[in-house]
Amino acid sequence: MKIGVVGTGQFAGSFISLWQLHPDVEAVYATDLIPERAEEHRQRYDMAGTFADFDAVLASDVDSVAIMTQRWHHGQQVLAALDAGKHVYSAVPMAIDAGEIEAIVAKVAETGLIYQMGETSYYNPAVVYARERIAAGAWGRIFYSEGDYVHDMDNGFYAAYQYSGGEAWKSTASFPPMLYPTHAVGGVLGAVPTHAVSVSCIGVVDDRDDGVFDKEVSMFNNDFSNMSAHFELADGGVMRTNEFRRVGHPAQVHESRFRFYGTDGVMEQTSTGASFSTRDKITDISDLFHTKSEQVEAVSGEQVEGLDQALMHSFVSGTAKVHDRSRLPDTYEGAANGHEGSHHFLADDFVRAVTTNTQPPVNAWVAARFTLPGIVAMESARKGGVRLDIPDLGDGPAPAW
Ligand SMILES: NC(=O)c1ccc[n+]([C@@H]2O[C@H](COP(=O)([O-])OP(=O)(O)OC[C@H]3O[C@@H](n4cnc5c(N)ncnc54)[C@H](O)[C@@H]3O)[C@@H](O)[C@H]2O)c1
Repeated sequence: MKIGVVGTGQFAGSFISLWQLHPDVEAVYATDLIPERAEEHRQRYDMAGTFADFDAVLASDVDSVAIMTQRWHHGQQVLAALDAGKHVYSAVPMAIDAGEIEAIVAKVAETGLIYQMGETSYYNPAVVYARERIAAGAWGRIFYSEGDYVHDMDNGFYAAYQYSGGEAWKSTASFPPMLYPTHAVGGVLGAVPTHAVSVSCIGVVDDRDDGVFDKEVSMFNNDFSNMSAHFELADGGVMRTNEFRRVGHPAQVHESRFRFYGTDGVMEQTSTGASFSTRDKITDISDLFHTKSEQVEAVSGEQVEGLDQALMHSFVSGTAKVHDRSRLPDTYEGAANGHEGSHHFLADDFVRAVTTNTQPPVNAWVAARFTLPGIVAMESARKGGVRLDIPDLGDGPAPAW
């Protein structure tokens, strides 16, 4: 397969390097509105070439397109790529508008093209573990779950939005937290086989007063920096998700964290570890989700200096014990990874889906169930927390793995 990567900013390189290493990928190309960025990636990753712009990618003979542009462009660009007959990999979120999501699902259903959303929490170690145990029925009925995405603006987001948005960065940095719900919702629904049917969400109005979460400046008319949503699920259970952007919490320490409450077992993950309990005992299972326990102890101590590097190494590069790497190409051994070991699986999922013409785990229908609940939650918060119904676009074809 040949992949045209659209948008070579801060994140695309992680996936370009993995597709370059994949034995079933023939060529990877880049394009960016800022051509120097595409050229810099071409050189750094020894890519096959660059294209002048997105239209040139669509007109080319690449069979697949990876949309790695800013969060609010994805829906329209994915639709354009599907219209051009390309398979699509999209960074999260799927889209920020319910109509775009419906159109993507309809287009994939009509054409049979592959669509995959790159949701990293699907391969978060805690989610991988919960998915397997829940499928085995080991925890009884899961009646309540929590998924949080805790990412403080001061831990990287200011810098990222400045790089991304140029002079107008403040208008984009107010990106509504619930329009980026997939690292929380996707982890819960990546493990519990159901979907959200209604939501009530509360937004916390920001008070930093630095012009970021300011409705006057925000291109999204948003002043919520922290948000908490309560979802009713189709199986009668409850899901709670938090999207926090102003929170005294270090970077890279289980930014996504999950808790699942079943009638026969409970798994609770925190910043520093995780436990599993039954009625009679509680077991520390932290070891399953990361590799270096001494670094986790350091988090709870005073050693803030130098911590990020250590944690980056442990949590970002590492593959956890629960990850089964046997399906991955040999060329991925020792390759750079990211987001708690998820990048290798996501990059390989897309190649497997396209080359075998089967729908990947986070296909259009699944991606819609990870994304639409946040769009409706945002609407609920804007209406003061009123409970709203969430449309559902169905199961779609069963993923082949
Ligand atoms: N854990 C995760 O899954 C995760 C982590 C980081 C980023 N992301 C997602 O990845 C995406 C990219 O993030 P980033 O930090 O690299 O953003 P970025 O702003 O650094 O890069 C986006 C690039 O896209 C380019 N671009 C925009 N429109 C274009 C167009 N029409 N044609 C060609 N190029 C275009 C921009 O010039 C920019 O260089 C975002 O959607 C983000 O949500 C996901």
